[in-house]
Amino acid sequence: MKVKIVGTGRCVPSNVVTNDMLSTFLDTSDQWIYSRTGIKQRYISTGESNSQLCIEAAKKALKNANLNGKDIDLIIVATITPDKVTPATACLVQSAIGASSAMAFDISAACSGFVYGINIASQFINSKAYNNALIIGGEVLSKILDWQDRSICVLFGDGAGAAILSRSEEDCIKSIECVSVGEKSDCLTCDGLELKNIYVPHQEEFSNNISMNGKEIFRFAVRVIENSIERILNENNLTFDDIDYVIPHQANSRIIEAVIKAKGYDKEKFYMNMSQYGNTSAASIPIALDELNKNGLLKEGMKLILIGFGGGLTYGSALINWKK
Ligand code: ACO
Repeated sequence: MKVKIVGTGRCVPSNVVTNDMLSTFLDTSDQWIYSRTGIKQRYISTGESNSQLCIEAAKKALKNANLNGKDIDLIIVATITPDKVTPATACLVQSAIGASSAMAFDISAACSGFVYGINIASQFINSKAYNNALIIGGEVLSKILDWQDRSICVLFGDGAGAAILSRSEEDCIKSIECVSVGEKSDCLTCDGLELKNIYVPHQEEFSNNISMNGKEIFRFAVRVIENSIERILNENNLTFDDIDYVIPHQANSRIIEAVIKAKGYDKEKFYMNMSQYGNTSAASIPIALDELNKNGLLKEGMKLILIGFGGGLTYGSALINWKK
């Protein structure tokens, strides 16, 4: 599609929580967490809301793209932890950046949400309906974690990442595919609002925390990464040597290492930063993309593969020809 990424940004809460800090109130250890997940620390909100993180990430992406809020005509926030049921987080971002003529809405595709957002926005830009889209993955997952459950709460972190998409002369976003696997919906769940009304009283056991089948997700994720890379290489007549970076969702380093081992891929090409952030769901890919961009690691013409996978179950992948 004739669409390119022209700016990126990220924002995380100020509070850093190391594995050792978790072991002061949980029966866990840095050794267990790091060896099973690759995670060393994560950022956990002590007051920053999802929309505040998204707004800050958006402002940085606008600056990076040399654009103003009023240039943006489409805003999509991918999140499973919005501040409010309504208004959408995207509307709060719209107001804060002054994108007064934009269409703004949230999408829910868990850890695949950013790639889903890129897909939706690219279609609108490619069809000339809109010119500049702001896509944000933002999460405050710490509010849907059971902080007494060591098998879950050690895995996740809070944060937001943003990217701005604009029309381009060349095909810069290629082979984008987003797939949902609803029959596996019970592998990763978090209940929403409780049914509580004059006919149904509050249920004492009601909770809206994340629960998941970790081993099933692990197998699903390995399969998705392997198949997505092969699909993209085949569709574009490329070999893995032609790819500069793979940016997978940062759930767990062992998932990525399993793919590298099975396929014999060069580990250096798989960008990993979960040691610093933990799993930030929809935010993980745009945070990683922004780190690569701001650290000067992306050069014109580089080929990047983005791969998201998560609750739904959902997955999505795309080939990006980097051109700012
Ligand atoms: N500290 C110490 N021990 C722990 C911890 C912890 N934080 N968590 C679990 N354990 C214990 C368990 O109680 C269990 O003990 P037991 O054998 O005495 O019963 C033992 O460690 C093994 O538990 P498992 O759940 O079998 O651990 P496993 O090796 O499968 O690792 C993990 C769990 C890391 C979540 C793994 O399943 C995994 O990598 N899953 C991939 C999916 C994932 O990362 N999901 C994250 C979000 S989903 C997404 O983003 C798409």
